[in-house]
Amino acid sequence: MNFYDSERMTDLLKPHGYQLDDNEDDADLIVLNTCHIREKAVEKTYSELGRIRDKINTRKEKTGKRSIVAVAGCVAQAQGKEIIKRSPWVDIVVGPQSYQNLPELIAKVDPVYKNKNINIDFPTIPKFDQLNANIEKRGPSAFLTIQEGCDKFCTFCVVPYTRGAEYSRPLKSIIDEAKRLIDVGVKEITLLGQNVNAWSSKGLDDQNWGLGRLIDELAKINDLKFIRYTTSHPLDMDIELIKSHRDNKKLMPYLHLPVQSGSDNVLKMMNRKHSAKEYLKIIEKVRDYNPKIAISGDFIVGFPGESEKDHLLTISLIKQVNYAQAYSFKYSKRPGTPGSVFLNQVNEDTKNFRLYEVQELLRSQQLSFNKKTINSKMKVLVLKKGKKKYQYIGRSPYNQSVYFSSNNDNLIGSFIDLSITDAFQNSLTGNILSDF
Ligand code: 5AD
Ligand code: SF4
Repeated sequence: MNFYDSERMTDLLKPHGYQLDDNEDDADLIVLNTCHIREKAVEKTYSELGRIRDKINTRKEKTGKRSIVAVAGCVAQAQGKEIIKRSPWVDIVVGPQSYQNLPELIAKVDPVYKNKNINIDFPTIPKFDQLNANIEKRGPSAFLTIQEGCDKFCTFCVVPYTRGAEYSRPLKSIIDEAKRLIDVGVKEITLLGQNVNAWSSKGLDDQNWGLGRLIDELAKINDLKFIRYTTSHPLDMDIELIKSHRDNKKLMPYLHLPVQSGSDNVLKMMNRKHSAKEYLKIIEKVRDYNPKIAISGDFIVGFPGESEKDHLLTISLIKQVNYAQAYSFKYSKRPGTPGSVFLNQVNEDTKNFRLYEVQELLRSQQLSFNKKTINSKMKVLVLKKGKKKYQYIGRSPYNQSVYFSSNNDNLIGSFIDLSITDAFQNSLTGNILSDF
């Protein structure tokens, strides 16, 4: 989502004379867009700001020019004024719900740069209503935020505090942005939300629509060929969406559905509001409707109070699901979340070992999922050139990176039929069958 927000900030600032630069050395404006979900996000932000201070000081010495520094994103939201206190060379602090005001905030930074501007409001006029900036050209695949925030309050997670309450963007604004993305050459759209499948809004027939209906509507856009979405919550996996995975040929056969743990005790302490069995039932149903779907997930090991028995239940759930790909993390405290003050925190050695076991199993499942595709035929979207001569990298319907060669110089953005020749941990290789 930060990637999307950064792109929108770029779009927004273009009419004000800014363009992207490859490095910060001679930048008039540096925006540090921060994420709070990973460990030590705050410390990392301050150390990055220290590096930026050195850059802007060097620039000032060499050229006499002073750069404007803005901190955006969820660490900005959480830290607010503290950022300016600890890093007084920062001019602007702007939260994820208020970055549409960046041009205004930049304009207000006074010529001697003494004016500091902080805007971490959750505005009553939603950001997207104000963010009708032009869309600049991007690659063949783009993100599109359709939902933000979270009301679920998992006890380990900082998102509800930094991104705010659940908000669904209205249908029309999503369709407009999708069309504008297609106009600049985008072929694949990934719909984004912290709880993307909780998206719900008034549809064209005035009924309440969910994500499945939205995807079906977007699929009517001719030149939009591949549709994806991330990240979903098990409780919001409704039948309409599951049916779209069977009926909508533009919706890719890939579902990222985090479960975090296979133990009901831990799920309860995490406030996930579902059991392991309920999660497995959903996966079963999704596979009933689309047997080929690739399942992905997120896991946290070493949540406070997690016993060896709980850990083995996670291993058992992973074996039952058989993931195509998944992310796994050691639990770490996020300031302000209930989990951070739970007693019975798990020690670091145990966390390391459990993470190792979970990751070994997930790695082997991913490799065998990839190996199963050898000799199959796949349509991939060509995303970019590889490092080797004539090499291209595309993305498969199952979200795998696929390497292939062609002496055609102009394939980026096209769909190519490949025969898969080999499979590795994180990628596939293929030979061209035909263009279409
Ligand atoms: N510790 C470890 N992992 C976390 N995640 C979120 N918060 C924490 C935390 N405190 C992981 C979850 C989530 C993913 C985006 O990040 O698995 O699904
Ligand atoms: Fe965080 Fe996702 Fe839980 Fe919301 S549902 S609190 S975003 S982990």
